[in-house]
Amino acid sequence: MRKVIIDTDPGHDDIMAILTALAHSSELELLSFCTVAGNQTVDKVTNNILKVEEYLGINIPVYRGEERPMVKDPQPQPQAHGETGMDGPILPEPLKKAEELSAVEYYKQILEKEDKVTIIALAPLTNLGVLLSRYPHLSEKIEAIALMGGALDGGNINKCAEFNIWHDPEAAKIVFDSGIRVIMAPLEACYAGAILLSETERFRKEGRVSKLVDDLFGFYCRYAIERNWDRTSVFDLMPVLYLLDEDLFVSEKGKVDIILDGEDTQGQTVFTKGEGNHIVLVDADREACMKIFFDAIDLLDRRYQ
Ligand code: RIB
Ligand code: CA
Repeated sequence: MRKVIIDTDPGHDDIMAILTALAHSSELELLSFCTVAGNQTVDKVTNNILKVEEYLGINIPVYRGEERPMVKDPQPQPQAHGETGMDGPILPEPLKKAEELSAVEYYKQILEKEDKVTIIALAPLTNLGVLLSRYPHLSEKIEAIALMGGALDGGNINKCAEFNIWHDPEAAKIVFDSGIRVIMAPLEACYAGAILLSETERFRKEGRVSKLVDDLFGFYCRYAIERNWDRTSVFDLMPVLYLLDEDLFVSEKGKVDIILDGEDTQGQTVFTKGEGNHIVLVDADREACMKIFFDAIDLLDRRYQ
């Protein structure tokens, strides 16, 4: 059993990754969710995870994180995730509230108390950058950071960079230079493990969780449909799947450096194979990845009736 904190900016794909982790509660002990500005403002993404928790009837503590990157300005992405950050599902406003403690102060508290904690980072790395700059000694208490982020051969937000790293490159540099074991799932691994648009139709069935996922894809797939793609990437699913079964991926070891600035290069991840404790996922077994995702949603349909 691995103690896990999920750092997230839900975000359609964040929610699908979180659902998959929830289905594997015997392998991943979810301690908390820490939100951060990224896909939308930190208030909107915090509201989204609270809405989903209430919809499922679960009570994992939620800590509201940093509302702006360490240096750059926040850049919400309504074209990908809508004005709410999770357009599509119609869920009631949550009665639940986030905890009083900020995400960074929560990380400090839990890492001083717990032994090895794994962080699954599905968003810009601002919370972790602030944490490690304020309390660098806590890096030893982090078992690993499994993150969705980075690009090896072309970006999705500028020519070279992936959104999560681009949004806060200064924070990403602190994380990658911290000595913590980082497992990076870049765009290439996400593309390799993509879901076929035809496969998304399987969620159009009875089941509270299937209905939520169907509504999420209803909005999320617009982007692919408008471009006549036959598939779309559930980006944030990849680091969760890696922690469940490393053999789903082809990975390489080495060191990742972060470029901080430049119109085409802000947030670029430069991977040098060989020395270093960064693991970069370079390919994925698409069918095997999707089976774990589909089985997870089926299991949650039975659990949350
Ligand atoms: O580039 C993909 C990443 O940006 C994912 O984490 C998605 O949720 C968005 O935050
Ligand atoms: Ca995300």
